[in-house]
Amino acid sequence: MCGIVAYIGAKEAYPIVVKGLKRLEYRGYDSAGVALFNNGEINLYKKQGKVSNLEEFAEGRDKSGHIGIGHTRWATHGEPNDVNAHPHLSGDGQIALIHNGIIENYESLKTELESRGHVFKSETDTEVLVHLIEEIQKNQSLSLPEAVRVTLTYVVGAYAIVVMDKNNPRQLIAARKSSPLVIGIGKEDDYYLASDATPIVEYTKNVVYMDDEEIAILDLDSGMKLVDIANQEKTPYIQELELHLEELEKGGYEHFMLKEIHEQPRSIQDCFRGRLNAKDGWVQLGGIKDHIEKIGKAKRIIFVACGTSWHAALVGEYLFEDLARIPVEVEYASEFRYRNPIIGEDDIVIAISQSGETADTLAALDIAKKKGATTLGICNVVGSSISRVTDAGSYTHAGPEIGVASTKAFTAQVTVLTLMALSIAKERATMSESQFRTILTELEQIPNKVSKVLEQNDLIEHISDVYQNANNALYLGRGSSFPVALEGALKLKEISYIHAEGYPAAEMKHGPIALIDEEMPVFVIATQGTSYEKVVSNIQEVKARKGKIIAIVTEGDTQVKAMADHVIEIPDTDENLVPLLATIPLQLLSYHVAVMRGCNVDQPRNLAKSVTVE
Ligand code: G6P
Repeated sequence: MCGIVAYIGAKEAYPIVVKGLKRLEYRGYDSAGVALFNNGEINLYKKQGKVSNLEEFAEGRDKSGHIGIGHTRWATHGEPNDVNAHPHLSGDGQIALIHNGIIENYESLKTELESRGHVFKSETDTEVLVHLIEEIQKNQSLSLPEAVRVTLTYVVGAYAIVVMDKNNPRQLIAARKSSPLVIGIGKEDDYYLASDATPIVEYTKNVVYMDDEEIAILDLDSGMKLVDIANQEKTPYIQELELHLEELEKGGYEHFMLKEIHEQPRSIQDCFRGRLNAKDGWVQLGGIKDHIEKIGKAKRIIFVACGTSWHAALVGEYLFEDLARIPVEVEYASEFRYRNPIIGEDDIVIAISQSGETADTLAALDIAKKKGATTLGICNVVGSSISRVTDAGSYTHAGPEIGVASTKAFTAQVTVLTLMALSIAKERATMSESQFRTILTELEQIPNKVSKVLEQNDLIEHISDVYQNANNALYLGRGSSFPVALEGALKLKEISYIHAEGYPAAEMKHGPIALIDEEMPVFVIATQGTSYEKVVSNIQEVKARKGKIIAIVTEGDTQVKAMADHVIEIPDTDENLVPLLATIPLQLLSYHVAVMRGCNVDQPRNLAKSVTVE
């Protein structure tokens, strides 16, 4: 949440910073701002709303300068307005600062600073930081890097910050703790800073992912220096980015979300490339192979995740228990971290996270590690915090996901979970060889089958048109289609603002059935499998109360077709793999409904993609 970008070098900073902020808008779009150093002055432009508002505001004003810092905000402390927008200035206007994270002890620091005469303009926690740097710098006559370092020893909370000083315009200071920050080392002795690598990739592929409690001094004369909070110098670990610029563009699609939905045949394929061979009958996830024996012997596996990733974890529970016969618990990371969970050395805790930066998931992992569990990560963003703090893990390789509503990351997570479940099943010998090979063969065919589902776009658009004005919607499924129902409901509510709930189909009679009338669309995953007949009964219960049924069925189905108002067919597959196909029409449906209702599909209100605050 909140995106930060900065540049120092020979180029003009403003275009780099603003372009970078647009790439980071998925992290929040409540306000945007830049501070540019030029001719001994800091020019500060801040505006409520999106980066485009900032651009309009800055039109015709002085935007020159070779040092710039910029911020796109997801509001925590203080409403989204121009004053609360970052960058924030010190009292004397000498220092400008941008911040992603939360300063938990800001109130006590603020009271102390006020007693020393500091006057604050905004309601943010961030402004306290820049005043504290000013205070410490003056009181202790410290250099800026030292003042920043000492300041951070007083701070409780999470931060990624970049600081610029009018008195030292050849230097930027950056620091991080629990919020991500990447340094790009430019080709012309210049430096880039950003919350992720997307604003940097078009200028350089050489990056350093900062670690917690590291401070970077980027100096045009003396180069880059990294120190830790105790002032010990550290050697930067320079990595080469594997990101490609085309992945960050819409590629002819109207929205990133639509592009990402359509990318799924490829992203699922990329996810199992080199990890599976149905002909020779093997599965291998290189990232966890050294731990597979321990995982196989584990008493239980605990998934921790948030949002859509939590839904993927629920699918994982069905897969791991059915295929690998290992007990699984699925936890909301935010609940797990605060309820003194019983965890021991025999437990395996698996964090699932697209961004790899979600604050609650990171905190849950921290607890699991402290209690001695083996920790694994399933992340999409390479080099992200979760992928670095876990003992081992597997990337989903879905490529950058820009739309705030997760689509291809979800199916890639489910694909990795399937591969993991199969690897553990092999280790524990819980599946027959023929069963194992059948599911591998089916998995290899999933990308083609996803393409077939996507071909039904026109039908799905038509159904979306019929229900676009609904006020509520119910999603039902059983078995591993229950998490698909939850995910379908989440997609609809987050981008179209229609109230939607997902339920296990049989639970409907314990409450939601009271809501059903002729106005209520009920989306049911009714594919062939163990609970097909039970779901058919649930559909009848809805029809008896005049609800509208939109059913996702297996190709060739006749029974549900005869009862439903609309059906969407998906190709037949192994029951364990149905979530990978049944999710697709629900994503498309939410997309079309949101477009028809005039909603901002890629950047829905109040949401952010990377939730780095708890
Ligand atoms: C936010 C995003 C969701 C995502 C969730 C968890 O709410 O809008 O799309 O599922 O965070 O994020 P993670 O990066 O940990 O998967």
